[in-house]
Amino acid sequence: MKIDNAAIVSIAREYGTPSYIYDGDQLIKNYKNLVNALPKFVDVFYALKVNPNVSLVRLLRNNGACTEVCSITEMEIALKAGSIPEDIIYLGPCKKDYELKRAISLNIYAIVVESEIELERVSNFSKELNVTTNVAIRINPDFSAEGSPWKMGGRPTHFGIEEQRAVQNFQKYLDTPNVNVKGIHVYNGTNILEATSVYENTKYILELYDKIVEKYNCKFTMVDVGGGMGIPYFTNQNPLDITEFKELMVPLFSKFHEKHPETRIIMESGRFIAGTAGYFAVTVNNIKENHGKTFLVTDGGTNCHSAAAGSGRVVKRNFPMQNISAPSNAMKQIYQVSGPLCSPDDIVGRNMELKETKVSDVLLVGFSGAYGPSSSPGLFHSHGFPAEVLMYEKKSYLIRKGDTTSDIMNKQIMVDVKHQDELILN
Ligand SMILES: Cc1ncc(COP(=O)(O)O)c(C=O)c1O
Repeated sequence: MKIDNAAIVSIAREYGTPSYIYDGDQLIKNYKNLVNALPKFVDVFYALKVNPNVSLVRLLRNNGACTEVCSITEMEIALKAGSIPEDIIYLGPCKKDYELKRAISLNIYAIVVESEIELERVSNFSKELNVTTNVAIRINPDFSAEGSPWKMGGRPTHFGIEEQRAVQNFQKYLDTPNVNVKGIHVYNGTNILEATSVYENTKYILELYDKIVEKYNCKFTMVDVGGGMGIPYFTNQNPLDITEFKELMVPLFSKFHEKHPETRIIMESGRFIAGTAGYFAVTVNNIKENHGKTFLVTDGGTNCHSAAAGSGRVVKRNFPMQNISAPSNAMKQIYQVSGPLCSPDDIVGRNMELKETKVSDVLLVGFSGAYGPSSSPGLFHSHGFPAEVLMYEKKSYLIRKGDTTSDIMNKQIMVDVKHQDELILN
């Protein structure tokens, strides 16, 4: 983590903690790194699920990114950020009727249908609205991406239609009225650090595309090969070798493009673009010794950043973390860094080596730009979601207010049931 500690401490003090601080310059750099490693005819779609903040999406959109959304709210965010329907795809295993109808009426680039029932639904709604809707068929392939800690395909999941069934039934999909089947989509894994693994995965998908086109003699105009490019959170990991990635992917895509020049090739990416561009700032509220260990109790933990606390991970390794308030020559010490929750699992750093820490110091967790608030249980203990701040070209901007007590309480509706029971009993 190479950052301006003093600037971040003053941002953390100004906007309060816990808070997320994003480096807009790094975000754009990451996006461009990926784009520059791909041929011009491949479009990168930013996956809003990793971080849907409208200002970040806007920055990416201004630099050419398309958007992949998984709910109607993400779609509205993408539109507000300047995306156009032609550059939006909509995925997800449970699209509600009103969401589908909104996507259909917007005429987005493709609704990626995840089942035959969903295809029928899109067909029926399109008929009602008297339109033809562009769709892609999400396939769960008979292949799983090596090196992905989470296998999204190649095993039983609720994503897509399994490969053999899809290949067998494709004529039915092509014959479905009121839809235009543009092509296929596969998303197979996440946080992959081996370029060869992304390559093998992509090759498989492009061959699957060819197999279906040849079998049904159909004209497709889209293939979405997913992505899953990762970042090295832990000390035992190496970053994705982007030069190797480029050397492998450019010839692969170029060969495909020569054969199918009309086909829009889509890669999706979230973590690679946003992950290293975000920090999570917390303030040390308390320091205590307990059973031989020194605990730094901070004001943000699993509730704001469940990924850093290792939720869902069997092996809980530490995200990079620094004490950015301590003087540069401070001695180092081993700490357990906890959040504010009454849960023994609310530990953001285990046996963490940090500069000697005092109450009120600010700690910064790196690699926090992806899957932070968007995948954390922000309402646990009713703390609410943290503020988010964007640093861009040496200026800082509040881009999400932290939840307040009234934000949370105003959503609740108090029904005095006990009082009514008493009335009935009397
Ligand atoms: C369909 C789809 N697209 C894109 C992503 C983003 O993946 P990543 O953050 O690995 O780039 C995911 C993550 O689960 C996904 O399921």
